[in-house]
Amino acid sequence: MRLSAAVIALLSTSATALSVFRENSVSANDELDVPGKSPLKFCDAAADRKDDIITIEEVVLTPNPPEAGQTLTIEASGIVKEAIEEGAYVNLSVKYGYIRLISTTADLCKEMKNVELECPIEKGRISITKNVELPKEIPPGKYTVDADVYTKEDKHITCLTAQVTFGRKTLGFFDDL
Ligand SMILES: *[C@@H]1O[C@H](CO)[C@@H](O)[C@H](O)[C@H]1NC(C)=O
Repeated sequence: MRLSAAVIALLSTSATALSVFRENSVSANDELDVPGKSPLKFCDAAADRKDDIITIEEVVLTPNPPEAGQTLTIEASGIVKEAIEEGAYVNLSVKYGYIRLISTTADLCKEMKNVELECPIEKGRISITKNVELPKEIPPGKYTVDADVYTKEDKHITCLTAQVTFGRKTLGFFDDL
């Protein structure tokens, strides 16, 4: 599914916009920041995530923030507290400004194949590394990605959100492209 690469890219990209923003303002919501170097945020406060099936340790994006037309490298690690079986799903939404581009339920196990993981994902520490080619022609603007992940039995796995703003390239010599 092509969608997943785009979604991974968007999720990673969102991190960018947030981190730029963060440098200019003291966030009252630091506990929502995903550790590492990315624009990702947790949807839920720490107390509400303690029973989540995945504890995300760190997400590092290079470059951070992501840039259209560049290869984005995503490195992530976490602890899986109980095996994740077939049937796990992601409620995913992608907005462009206020416009809802995508609102769908995706098969988590299928999506995980994009990062070389297969279900069942056993209990223990996992880490992934993934390169994503971000298309040059991403329309400029603010993207918001929300991903809420559940097991087949509707136990909460994790929930992440990210905002990424893609600008117009202003490097003079790209202007004619
Ligand atoms: C996920 O999305 C589906 C379809 O919109 C919805 O029926 C379901 O309640 C959602 N699950 C959760 C846990 O929000």
